[in-house]
Amino acid sequence: MARNKVTVIGAGNVGATTAQRIAESGLADVVLVDIVDGLPQGKGLDLAEAAPVVGHDACVVGTNDYADTAGSDIIVVTSGIPRKPGMSRDDLISTNAGIVGAVVKAAAAVSPDAIIIVVTNPLDVMCHVAMQASGFPRERVIGMAGVLDSARFRTFIAMELGVSVKDVHAFVLGGHGDTMVPLSRYSTVAGVPITELLPADRVKALEERTANGGAEIVAFLKTGSAFYAPAASTHEMVDAILRDRKRVLPCAVMLKGEFGVDGLFVGVPAVLGRKGVERVFEIKLTADEQAAFEKSANAVRELVKVLPA
Ligand code: NAI
Ligand code: 2OP
Repeated sequence: MARNKVTVIGAGNVGATTAQRIAESGLADVVLVDIVDGLPQGKGLDLAEAAPVVGHDACVVGTNDYADTAGSDIIVVTSGIPRKPGMSRDDLISTNAGIVGAVVKAAAAVSPDAIIIVVTNPLDVMCHVAMQASGFPRERVIGMAGVLDSARFRTFIAMELGVSVKDVHAFVLGGHGDTMVPLSRYSTVAGVPITELLPADRVKALEERTANGGAEIVAFLKTGSAFYAPAASTHEMVDAILRDRKRVLPCAVMLKGEFGVDGLFVGVPAVLGRKGVERVFEIKLTADEQAAFEKSANAVRELVKVLPA
């Protein structure tokens, strides 16, 4: 059987940590790409030299040349720049749209059957860019954010109740921003909704901490954003796809009428398998939840309007 091949574009914090997780779990050979000469080569070699100690035999290489990425099963896109002082969110969108559009075009040209996982922010907007640049169908362009946001919610629920994260399940839907929608009614400890385990004010506090989860890490780090949990979340999606697990994971998917939204990438539960998004897993929302979801979708729609034509 041919070995799986995953290309990770962007050899920064999220990209390099994702490459490490994929290689060390033996999921696939990894090609790490960056625009900076030497960075992916150095990190790729360093990761390869860890293999004898860790005990895996995945190949890891770093490159600046997309020819080396040819025939990839999955392309993970983490390349981009963070928001700098004086830069508006709109400036960030157009800069990162240029980067994501260019790298996806180059990578998709040599891996026409790949599945793209977008990580670069603003996440939902960059999914639109990746879909347009690749020309791939919606099944093969997926955004990573819901797994991370749900992991944060699970962590906070477990901390609050003093239980193992293993017994906590949670869903966060909507866009990857302030308007994300933690679905407490569907978030459970050993199957029991947290709305039955915690007073309403505590549930609200955990939801708010989740929506603020990325900013909480940035406030500590000061010079960068989270990468361990984002890389673990990306790895979980890569694993679900390559092992055809049919996992139900919250992902940014181009909706075609599901949840009342059309023509927009928004976070929803999706069945992930070898074909990518194999199904949008529709669940019933209350009127309040639907309103919050639509508000979040509208926030994404406003950002998409900023994209250069
Ligand atoms: P980083 O700054 O550590 O790495 C970004 C890398 O992209 C750098 O090595 C840079 O040289 C590279 N790059 C820039 N332009 C490029 C190009 N044209 N071609 C190839 N490589 C290029 O940033 P970090 O922490 O790894 O974050 C990466 C992105 O992921 C950011 O946009 C961040 O906001 C986003 N992010 C999204 C999350 C999500 O939940 N969707 C979670 C965490 C981060
Ligand atoms: C996060 O949520 C920065 O989107 C990134 O940590």
